[in-house]
Amino acid sequence: MKADKYLEKVLKYAQKGVALDLGTGKGRNALFLAKNRFKVEAIDKRDVFINKNNPLIDFKVADINNLEFEKKYSLILAIFLLNLLGVLNTQKLFVKIKKALLPKGIFYLTLFLEKKNSIEILKLVKNYFQIIESELEIIEDKHDVPHTHYVLRIIVKNKK
Ligand SMILES: C[S@@+](CC[C@H](N)C(=O)[O-])C[C@H]1O[C@@H](n2cnc3c(N)ncnc32)[C@H](O)[C@@H]1O
Repeated sequence: MKADKYLEKVLKYAQKGVALDLGTGKGRNALFLAKNRFKVEAIDKRDVFINKNNPLIDFKVADINNLEFEKKYSLILAIFLLNLLGVLNTQKLFVKIKKALLPKGIFYLTLFLEKKNSIEILKLVKNYFQIIESELEIIEDKHDVPHTHYVLRIIVKNKK
């Protein structure tokens, strides 16, 4: 299970501390953060997480749309999640993330640009956060019906 390829770069910006992995799935990115000495809270609505015995990772089953963030985090991840949540829920989530980031906190998100809602979500990113760095990856997927993914990876922080 390889972690997201941009995470290494994200770590150059994020201070060590507590990270929140939203829509963690099996937990490949949460595990990468724990290996890099973050304490990680990992959330998914499906119970498919496979690193439940890692003492640095606290996995919870929850719907992100109903989640209240009680702590502050040095790093928050939303990797291949926001297109699934949709524009309205993403906006609500961004309001919560802004409050939940520590002063030097970093938020890292990825989007599939070929999804219809990605432009609206991108506008929200620009409105709510300051972009530090971004990268576009074009992936030719040759399985079954060949198609192309346009993956935009964005590292942001709160606006001053
Ligand atoms: C495409 S997977 C990405 C998993 C992981 N971030 C990764 O990069 O390996 C999206 C994940 O988001 C979760 N998810 C989608 N909507 C959610 C919601 N409303 N609340 C919690 N998890 C959600 C799904 O269950 C799924 O595990």
